[in-house]
Amino acid sequence: MDARLVRAVAPPEGDDFAACLAEGLSRSLKEIPCKFFYDQQGSHLFDAICALPEYYQTRTELGLLHRHAREIAALIGPGAEIVEFGAGSLTKVRILLDALQGPAAYTPLDISGDYLGGVVRTLAADYPALAMRPLVADFTMPLAIPPLPGAPRRAGFFPGSTIGNFRPETADCLLRRMRASLNGGGLLVGVDLVKDPRRLHAAYNDSAGITAAFNKNLLARANRELDAGFDLDGFAHYAPYNSAAHRIEMYLVSLKRQSVEFAGRRFDFVQGEPIHTEDSHKYTIEAFRELAARAGFRPRAVWTDEERLFSLHWLEN
Ligand code: AVI
Repeated sequence: MDARLVRAVAPPEGDDFAACLAEGLSRSLKEIPCKFFYDQQGSHLFDAICALPEYYQTRTELGLLHRHAREIAALIGPGAEIVEFGAGSLTKVRILLDALQGPAAYTPLDISGDYLGGVVRTLAADYPALAMRPLVADFTMPLAIPPLPGAPRRAGFFPGSTIGNFRPETADCLLRRMRASLNGGGLLVGVDLVKDPRRLHAAYNDSAGITAAFNKNLLARANRELDAGFDLDGFAHYAPYNSAAHRIEMYLVSLKRQSVEFAGRRFDFVQGEPIHTEDSHKYTIEAFRELAARAGFRPRAVWTDEERLFSLHWLEN
């Protein structure tokens, strides 16, 4: 059977970059939602982050997936539809697909349609017998995934510790929504762990400056898409670890008094003024299991590496 490529339908709600940017920059504490990092350029920069020596998350999670693929495949069971939330480069799912017994279909959801189209074409060429149904969708919004013919059992896949980019109360909401969309299926989720703050700091302040470029891509994207006049050298990447809240906080800090215009409006910045762009929460294994249980899942198996840097959780519905 040829891979079936079904394009998604409506553009995701709440995805109007101009409106969200204007709203976020009008706040007394300015912010830009982190989902806007991932246009095509941002998705490529994120891939480069994943390959950085300081960014231990990706290689540690890949190691865990390789090491426990058979056990995970047995828990998922044969003939399942794999639904990946925020699919990105589709590298990790290959390990699952190789271990699973006769997966019925693969449904990757991603906000970046152009990027998703490209990576799905590559994956489809390598898995010609697998039905693919990429959906350009914002998984943070209410979402009904239409059942496939025969309604195969679903299993969710949410790697990369993207769950950490949501405040715990929002993460609870998101997990509930995912649980509902899985129609009784379980969820495999990757979660970054609390650790030495120096290690965390290095991961978000890499020596090659890729994370800084990723952060500034928000402003570059506004220049590209909205003809905004952001001076990229007029802002600095700033990513401290807030140990009380167990999270990295990312900001773009204005290095001078300046104004930027777009969409017919003017936005003023004073010297030293931050724009909040991302939080990346770190959990203990116990704290994450409690969060998952509050969202209605039954936390089952959990895998971690020798250094306890990262964790993979199998949650039953
Ligand atoms: C996608 N997410 C889990 C990454 C993280 O580590 O929070 C995004 C990222 N931001 C800076 N570096 C990576």
